[in-house]
Amino acid sequence: MRVRLASTDDSPAVAEIYAPYVQTTVISFETTPPDAGQMAERIAATMPAHPWLLAEEAGTVLGYAYAHPFASRAAYAWSAETSVYVRPDRHRRGVGRSLYEVLLRLLAAQGYREAFAGVTLPNAASVALHEGMGFAAVGTYRRVGFKHGSWHDVGWWQRGLGGQGAPAAVRTVTDLEPSELARLLALPGERR
Ligand SMILES: CC(C)(COP(=O)(O)OP(=O)(O)OC[C@H]1O[C@@H](n2cnc3c(N)ncnc32)[C@H](O)[C@@H]1OP(=O)(O)O)[C@@H](O)C(=O)NCCC(=O)NCCS
Repeated sequence: MRVRLASTDDSPAVAEIYAPYVQTTVISFETTPPDAGQMAERIAATMPAHPWLLAEEAGTVLGYAYAHPFASRAAYAWSAETSVYVRPDRHRRGVGRSLYEVLLRLLAAQGYREAFAGVTLPNAASVALHEGMGFAAVGTYRRVGFKHGSWHDVGWWQRGLGGQGAPAAVRTVTDLEPSELARLLALPGERR
């Protein structure tokens, strides 16, 4: 398995992984799965400031993780929201952890200070993944979404990314030196 930056060309694979979670679960609060074109627009809208990452093996996309702005007002610029989706037939094989490890490393290197994740409750796998990655529970919005005939709570988790004091401007992933980017993308034991 390797983790790499996604591009808009990857939107069909990303849309395919995401669609069943939209259609059959309340993990996502969307009700209509975005098609590949809409997913390409989402990737293009946040890259390269907020990375999208793919995990793949032998040409198969196993999962993806991405960051996007936590909120749009200027003072939020160092806070990123993160999310991760893994193909159901590849769960519990370290794909989600690998994607998040790389995503959090990249965000820290770019100069982001805090990562946030909202999780529709209950979601034992996502909560365990986030807490295992150092996220701490912040609080819960009760009955904040209505989908599939019932109301749902969303818990929020937060993780510091390092750095102190006044922040420098955030760098995009394309601002990173190619050798630094390659080092950040490499999984343990992987040489690039
Ligand atoms: C949450 C999700 C991304 C985890 O990805 P994954 O590749 O299956 O997870 P990993 O194999 O990397 O597991 C990493 C850790 O997460 C936790 N975890 C993962 N799946 C779990 C499960 N079903 N139950 C409890 N803990 C689980 C464990 O702590 C695990 O470490 P361990 O295997 O050493 O015990 C995956 O279950 C998924 O895609 N779920 C649907 C989408 C989703 O909920 N995304 C998060 C939106 S907030």
